[in-house]
Amino acid sequence: MTDVLARLREMQAADLPVHGGRTLAYVYDSGLPDVDRIGREAVAAYAGSNGLDPTAFPSLLQMENELVGFTADLLDAPDGAVGTVTSGGTESCLLAVQGARDSRPDVTRPRMVVPSTVHAAFLKAAHYFGVEAVVVPVGPDFRADAAAMVAAIDADPGRTVLVVVSAPSYAHGVVDPVPAVAAHAAERGIRCHVDACIGGWVLPYAARIGRDVPPWTFAVDGVTSISVDTHKYAYAPKGTSVLLHRSSAHRRPQYFAHADWPGYTMLNSTIQSTKSGGPLAGAWAVTTTLGHAGYERLTRDVFEAVDRIVAGVAEIPELSLVATPDSTLVALVTDATCDAFTVCDEMALRDWYVQPQMAYAGQPATIHLSVSAGTLPHADDFLAALRESVAAAVAAGPTAVDPEVAAFIAALDPAALTDDDFDGLLLAAGLTGGDDLSLPDRMADVNAMLDLATPAMREALLVAFLDRLARPVRATRS
Ligand SMILES: Cc1ncc(COP(=O)(O)O)c(C=O)c1O
Repeated sequence: MTDVLARLREMQAADLPVHGGRTLAYVYDSGLPDVDRIGREAVAAYAGSNGLDPTAFPSLLQMENELVGFTADLLDAPDGAVGTVTSGGTESCLLAVQGARDSRPDVTRPRMVVPSTVHAAFLKAAHYFGVEAVVVPVGPDFRADAAAMVAAIDADPGRTVLVVVSAPSYAHGVVDPVPAVAAHAAERGIRCHVDACIGGWVLPYAARIGRDVPPWTFAVDGVTSISVDTHKYAYAPKGTSVLLHRSSAHRRPQYFAHADWPGYTMLNSTIQSTKSGGPLAGAWAVTTTLGHAGYERLTRDVFEAVDRIVAGVAEIPELSLVATPDSTLVALVTDATCDAFTVCDEMALRDWYVQPQMAYAGQPATIHLSVSAGTLPHADDFLAALRESVAAAVAAGPTAVDPEVAAFIAALDPAALTDDDFDGLLLAAGLTGGDDLSLPDRMADVNAMLDLATPAMREALLVAFLDRLARPVRATRS
């Protein structure tokens, strides 16, 4: 038994660290080991409990109602607001779309209006639920263009079941103009969802500590639902998000019941049916331990880290902010002398994970930072690593994609990518083909190649790549 746990730890050593504040995407670190321990113990205690039936596991129902109540207080929800704990941001976004669609059975070809910076989870929802996504380009400040969103709604209000805005957007960290969009949606009787998956737990505390936060909560008329992830800035273990609705009537279409079969009557509030009680218990334990006072402290810390990073970036001539961050997400752009992807590789060599974001809609590639409270004690170290990484990237020069490879990519049809095409690209990218697939230490060349590809081509390449990675490990058969 100890061997198995030792092996687990050994395998985990290859992963990005989830503690230590040095991983600036995917994970959120409070920097408080006791809080993490309580969260982990709660997950373990409830790992086998089943959230499928709240009457069989009443403690799970109680924890869910308390967590939703805490969230409702945080987001200025009116009396009568209700919510559901889901498995994560994507499930909350999926349910917001599914609920909006099913609230309008009269609409045969539903559409929803979203800004081009909306999280990809909404495009996934459109794909899953057969809702047309009308994607509206954002303005020059990377915020949703309210006038363009209104025009897109009015192009076909009868078929529009939902409009979505973000607080903030993942890619640029800015809050959309929620009041203007929500007011128009309300006038037309259309649902307005605010995707605050990543910012919803920090922005209210940011306002409480006196920072300038644009309006985006239920205090804004016309907002009908909000998603906020507890497994992000509530610093809870992975596996929970809260989807709040302005009223139980708004939530009702999200529920699924099926009694017309010989087994138990299935009654679900989420996409999952059987679901571990662990993540909910973990989120309940962490939020109860920290309380509003704890989150206020952590929010002071995380914004101190953000402010120091922003000030430090201003002193690096090759770097600039894509936008002044409204929240705790920072997007950086490099000048022509410095390759953004090489900076990411150089940061990794210095044990910092920062996330490359590909070029989009005429904007160059950027570097994403999701800053955590746990990053604050290491802010100076981060800036020193960033300065060194930029200097190394400038010294290395531009990452040039071999013109033949570029021409090969340009000639490929993403809809008809064959295994042979993919093998050719793997070889060209220095990733060995066949069964022997391995990632290079430096990703800049691969990223530069992907950056050249159209989004459709990038999707096809990455799907093919994931298909190669995800192969079963079989016991050898004689
Ligand atoms: C704004 C926003 N919405 C939705 C999601 C999806 O959340 P998850 O990765 O938990 O499914 C994210 C994730 O970063 C996000 O930033």
